[in-house]
Amino acid sequence: MTALTNDQTATGAEEQISATLVNPYLNHAVRMLEAGYATATDIDHAMRFGCGYPKGPLMVIDELGAATVRDALAARFAETGDHLHQPADLLEKAAAEGLTLAGGEAGDHAAPQVRRPVATVGVVGTGTMASGIVQVFAQSGYDVVVVGRAQEKLDAVVTGIARSLERAIAKGRSDEATKQAVLGRITTATGREALAAADLVVEAIAEDLAIKAELFTDLDRICKPGAILATTTSSMPITELATVTGRPQDVIGMHFFNPAPVMKLVEVVTTEHTADHVDETVKALCAKTGKVAVSCGDRSGFIVNALLFPYLNDAVRLAESGVDLTAIDAAIKERAGFPMGPFELLDVVGNDVSLAIQQELHREFGEPGFKPAATLEAKVAAGELGRKTGRGFHTYA
Ligand code: 3HC
Repeated sequence: MTALTNDQTATGAEEQISATLVNPYLNHAVRMLEAGYATATDIDHAMRFGCGYPKGPLMVIDELGAATVRDALAARFAETGDHLHQPADLLEKAAAEGLTLAGGEAGDHAAPQVRRPVATVGVVGTGTMASGIVQVFAQSGYDVVVVGRAQEKLDAVVTGIARSLERAIAKGRSDEATKQAVLGRITTATGREALAAADLVVEAIAEDLAIKAELFTDLDRICKPGAILATTTSSMPITELATVTGRPQDVIGMHFFNPAPVMKLVEVVTTEHTADHVDETVKALCAKTGKVAVSCGDRSGFIVNALLFPYLNDAVRLAESGVDLTAIDAAIKERAGFPMGPFELLDVVGNDVSLAIQQELHREFGEPGFKPAATLEAKVAAGELGRKTGRGFHTYA
């Protein structure tokens, strides 16, 4: 046997970590395609533009070869007996018949059109997502009304956007006049009545169904007829929000990704009530704000979170088994080419948010392998939520 150098051993370990975490994610993407939940193009776009991955999962399988991925999963399944590692039927078929899985670029559909004119956008909320969404619309020329409960929080949204625009100026990507124009399009209000004239309202408040339902009841009372009412929820049933209003045809999901000004994806979620021209208008607005829209049904996790969070949860389990988490982060960036390691990303998203999403996925899909990892639960119980508390899986100054 040839002795391995330290470098070769390190590379082998990285490859193993990457394969352990990435192959089940690839399998899961095939299952999503096979179930008809989303198109191949939308699955690949979702992971590229929502998480910054260099390639979508189906494209990765095509490049590696379906048979190679199938064989790796089959070997793993033989060890674990976990259904999540059992090669998807469609992967077996692709391997046996030499088929490819990825779709083409979306060019075969006519570009969506704005079917309802939108000039003024209302955003409800003052958190990270709300703030990013305000920036996205204001930068794209829309007048934005931000509604929050406290004026200090509204002021902080505007200050945060001003700082972001100043960074862009410092990098030579923008100028003072643009900054003033963007800020000039933003107005703030502590009363919801300010949303009366909005053509589109995007809700980005607490992930709590009762709180969101109360808001939608109020939006139904306040907003003008024909206004589009969008929620950014990542885990609540949108149908339930639609049906508290007298206009369920106007209610839709617009799931943005963190950081919203940078990540190009919006998952557009329709319910059985959503009008086609509302869906089309929202997709056209995404294009006008430089975003890539994908179509999703009203199901927990949509495309991205359903594929991303089980992988993050698996990373926590791998660390629990004794693998150093810094080594896991490094292996994923180095081998899979993802922009952040799983623990870096968990700390950005927040362990509380990640746990809530994983619990929802576990409940919705009933996969035993989706059970939240004990360490994730412990981090949340200890208040170690990630960057926002200064400590999560990593520690921040
Ligand atoms: N707001 C505005 N702009 C930001 C920003 C922020 N919060 N963070 C970074 N940027 C900008 C920078 O200013 C920079 O802009 P420039 O190119 O014009 O100079 C650009 O983004 C790149 O930033 P950096 O060079 O500082 O950093 P990186 O190259 O490391 O990129 C990243 C940062 C784009 C965030 C990259 O690490 C990435 O793609 N990470 C993956 C994030 C991800 O997976 N998000 C999805 C999470 S899941 C989710 O949101 C769903 C929810 O339901 C939980």
